[in-house]
Amino acid sequence: MTNLWDATTIKDIQLKHRLALAPMTRSRALPDGVPGPLAAEYYAQRAELGLLITEGTQPSADGQGYLNTPGIYTPEQIAGWRTVTDAVHARDAHLFIQLMHVGRISHPGNTPHHRQGVAPSAITPRASIYTVDGMQPVPTPRALSIDEIATTVADFRHAAASAIAAGADGVEIHAANGYLLQQFLAPNANQRTDRYGGSIENRTRLVVEVAAAVADEIGSDKVGIRLSPGGRLGDIDEGPEYGALYRSLVAELAKLDLAYLHLFYFSDDENLLADLRHAWPSTLLLLRAGRSVTIESLDADLASGLADVVPLGSSALANPDIVTRLRVGAELNTPVPATFYGGGADGYTDYPSLAA
Ligand SMILES: Cc1cc2nc3c(=O)[nH]c(=O)nc-3n(C[C@H](O)[C@H](O)[C@H](O)COP(=O)(O)O)c2cc1C
Repeated sequence: MTNLWDATTIKDIQLKHRLALAPMTRSRALPDGVPGPLAAEYYAQRAELGLLITEGTQPSADGQGYLNTPGIYTPEQIAGWRTVTDAVHARDAHLFIQLMHVGRISHPGNTPHHRQGVAPSAITPRASIYTVDGMQPVPTPRALSIDEIATTVADFRHAAASAIAAGADGVEIHAANGYLLQQFLAPNANQRTDRYGGSIENRTRLVVEVAAAVADEIGSDKVGIRLSPGGRLGDIDEGPEYGALYRSLVAELAKLDLAYLHLFYFSDDENLLADLRHAWPSTLLLLRAGRSVTIESLDADLASGLADVVPLGSSALANPDIVTRLRVGAELNTPVPATFYGGGADGYTDYPSLAA
């Protein structure tokens, strides 16, 4: 039976164990969306996780929704990410940059061009967002035109090429958590009447197009994708047919021979999870929402074969040496939510390791 400490591979990447760093927004980028020296230190500190998936990173100005998130579409951003990838590679780990287009979960005050957010349809989510003026309701977005959808696909392609130019080992397409790509999947956010709305085939079209374009650009072995079946973040409701939606989407994505599928699993439908596992030909990363970080709970999905890798979120944020701590059964530092987003080293690079 597979357990946490067994080695594995993701395409050409060798991993010494089954843990990975889950993507986490930290909102500490320098002006113009450039990751700074603290980001290089933060990721390098967590190198024993082997596979590090970065914070959500915008592929374009339209793709930004939160303050101080990094981008990966300008030469300055590529240069900034290069310092991160060099630091991570020096410690023998691998880095996938998560490409996150927030769609409607945005605020004009948070973006470089101060424009209205974009979405499949002009539907206001019931959600709030942090801005320089404190928490504000998310404003009504405008619907993307067909031409703009093609531009969005091209932006993902360009961002993926930029990530590779920055030395990243790959990218993770963020199609989860209520952001642009999941907004297209969900009938309550997507009421388009063209080929991107309505049927399951139409609502999944953009996700598949983005994945195919990115795979074509940088090679399918360098592309992962994150989905959150049953997730309701960002006022998403995929409706009672979400099982059929994800069975269809994963079957289409499976044809692209991607490096991995990353499920952030909110559903209690175990049949759906088993079906998605069986439909997926390569590595499956599984993070169950609300699961506890104990050896027993992390091992369970590896032993059953449902998962190949189990990423860690907030526990890895708070424990740079989480792999060592789990191996030796040491106590874990407690994550401090007040310093999750924004600020400097406090709550970012100053969580102690056992050695310290
Ligand atoms: C501070 C913070 C920021 C996050 N940002 C992202 C993100 O940018 N992209 C993403 O896909 N998930 C994001 N997540 C979700 C995590 O990847 C993970 O799925 C979640 O924290 C549950 O895992 P955990 O129970 O191990 O913390 C974030 C979570 C936290 C705590």
